[in-house]
Amino acid sequence: MSWLGHRRIDLIECGSTNDEAAKLARDGAAHGTVVIAERQTAGRGRDGRAWQSPPGGLYLSAILRPALPLVDVPPLTLAIGVGACDAAREHGAAAQLKWPNDIYVAGKKLAGVLVEAQSQGHRLESVIVGIGVNLATTPDLDTATSLGNVDRAAFTTCLLAHVEHWIDRYVATGIAAIVPAWQARMMANLVLRAGELVGSLVGLDVDGALLIRDGYGTIHRIRSGDVSVVH
Ligand code: BTN
Repeated sequence: MSWLGHRRIDLIECGSTNDEAAKLARDGAAHGTVVIAERQTAGRGRDGRAWQSPPGGLYLSAILRPALPLVDVPPLTLAIGVGACDAAREHGAAAQLKWPNDIYVAGKKLAGVLVEAQSQGHRLESVIVGIGVNLATTPDLDTATSLGNVDRAAFTTCLLAHVEHWIDRYVATGIAAIVPAWQARMMANLVLRAGELVGSLVGLDVDGALLIRDGYGTIHRIRSGDVSVVH
């Protein structure tokens, strides 16, 4: 029984599918509703960055209404990254994960995930899961890559199925199933920068926090913020 994308809204153009989905969610749109645009004029990435969204890419946002407390939303983003990674692999890409949920192929970014929660006080109203995938086009040849000549509709169906699977696993079993799956797909042997800290990637802690070992051997837990690859 599949629920993700049971209702789908296809747009030629919008500012950001995350904003369209957030509006629909505020108006009561159901769990599993998906908005897809052929191009975005104000695509957003994490940490206030722009997400270049020319025609030829996949720009998708899903409305989730999971029965989760607000604190359990950040680990959900790891599960979504695992699903997106698996969809890219099923389409022939040697995809790997960079924390928290970027998809890379051979050191270049293929896809990104932007998760935004809407709440009333402490009550979670909805989660908007935005996924951008470079399909036929690559916005920046130096830092990004694309999936190449894939069937957009088939890839979308595959992506929704994998993401749905990993959301279901997270909601049913919690973070325990997600951490090993994420680590099995992560880019290993990286030196990372998180704010002032530069150190080597260890993996994930049991709650999904990123673990980085500094030059003195101390392991630091990173729970949020921007993490970049030094090499
Ligand atoms: C990132 O890597 O920084 C996240 C990028 C997320 C981009 C997607 S495209 C669909 C959805 N709409 C947006 O404006 N952003 C997300």
